[in-house]
Amino acid sequence: MTEEVFRSPKKRGRIAVLLSGRGSNFMSIHHAIREGRIDADVVLVLSNKPDAPGLTAARERGLETLFLDPKLYANREDYDQAIVERLRQKDVDLVCLAGYMRILTPVLCRAFVNRILNIHPALLPSFPGLHGRQKAIDWGVRFSGCTVHFVAEEVDMGPIVLQAAVPVLQDDTEDTLAARILVEEHKIYPEAVRLFFEGRIEIRGRRVFFV
Ligand code: GRF
Repeated sequence: MTEEVFRSPKKRGRIAVLLSGRGSNFMSIHHAIREGRIDADVVLVLSNKPDAPGLTAARERGLETLFLDPKLYANREDYDQAIVERLRQKDVDLVCLAGYMRILTPVLCRAFVNRILNIHPALLPSFPGLHGRQKAIDWGVRFSGCTVHFVAEEVDMGPIVLQAAVPVLQDDTEDTLAARILVEEHKIYPEAVRLFFEGRIEIRGRRVFFV
């Protein structure tokens, strides 16, 4: 059986960011674009929360933003279908989840296979889901970190692009560990997006290669 190989496109990319909160990862990506480290434009910043600080930050940066109210849709699939339509209208190449606090339905996952990235605050496959940092502390691991991965239908389980590790200290709280991990998130997320639009990411099975 021949394995299907995906190769990311080498082009000036069109990025959509989905966020629900403060948006520091979005800002790290946008900053890298402005510095010329990523060949792309953020063409849409979309949120399920009208008051997400990340939306305000996007507006302040002159970017197109959109609040889509989940309450106006009968179910999660219909909501995700509305998102898919907006993303298609904007001809989006890559969707960056950046603190987007909704689980994607297959409607969205299947419309953008190999074209949705997420950042998770733990070294996957350890500690998926919510509260990854507290789970790492409670488990007693000596290192945790963050993972940029492609989004598959199973939550936090898609192919891993980049990871960074940080020590877990004896007196860490969820907040102190989060702050240490966040510094690394802001390095590896823009780096993964850069590699994507340099056409250097190849996915074979569940492994990612840089070519
Ligand atoms: C980050 O900790 C990220 O790992 C997780 O959600 C948080 C988002 O933070 N997925 P921000 O909104 O990007 O500042």
